[in-house]
Amino acid sequence: MRLLFVGDVVSEAGCLFLQKKLPALKKQYQIDLAVVNGENSAVGNGITNYSANQIFRSGADVITTGNHAFQRRKELHVFENACIIRPVNYGDACPGRGFLIQDMGSCQIAVINLAGTLFLENLENPFASVDAILNQIHTPNIFVDFHAEATSEKRAMGFHLAGRVTAVLGTHTHVQTADACILKSHTGYITDTGMTGVENSVLGVDIKTATDKLRFHTPVSYQDARGACYLNAVLIDFEKTCGKCTKITPLIVR
Ligand SMILES: [Fe+2]
Ligand SMILES: [Fe+2]
Repeated sequence: MRLLFVGDVVSEAGCLFLQKKLPALKKQYQIDLAVVNGENSAVGNGITNYSANQIFRSGADVITTGNHAFQRRKELHVFENACIIRPVNYGDACPGRGFLIQDMGSCQIAVINLAGTLFLENLENPFASVDAILNQIHTPNIFVDFHAEATSEKRAMGFHLAGRVTAVLGTHTHVQTADACILKSHTGYITDTGMTGVENSVLGVDIKTATDKLRFHTPVSYQDARGACYLNAVLIDFEKTCGKCTKITPLIVR
């Protein structure tokens, strides 16, 4: 089986580019399940009903999020959709769910969303949270979107879950890393999948506003970048009977 995982879709430009590219990619690579990180898909960050619908209309089956999941307080109802998840370590009292099981007919696929806590919000410990969730999941086909800032925390999570899940796919830092590999001959891993949006930008934000903020430390309102987009993703080939990743292929589509 083959799963396509798409890195953080940023704003309207990212959503429109996803709509343009994802249908053909699904056909070209014969994708069984498409998972897309949508935490920055709304204009002005976060996720809205509108941006989630744009992602689903592109052909995504599951949307994961991250530290911006609850950014849009009037749109929290999006998490009532069973196919949209938020980091599991926000805890049970928060809106939404942190994992889902997709029934594929011939097998089941679990998708877990997890957030790092180094240089991010002080959520429940992600290592303990994911261990608790794995005890509740009875399919070997398990994909973890680990939404984290620190490369150390992401690589540690990769090794923590090696041999226990099909893939650990990093998100949040919006730049695709060159370390895709298979850990313990079982678990596909990449520190960061990258982003989908305007390429000539600072993580999807207009270069001047992002740079001014860093240069002058005065408040700025971030503007969306404009220009040509790219889509960053990884393909995961896996054996559905045992959940073993046989190949991980990073993709950059312009
Ligand atoms: Fe992001
Ligand atoms: Fe993020």
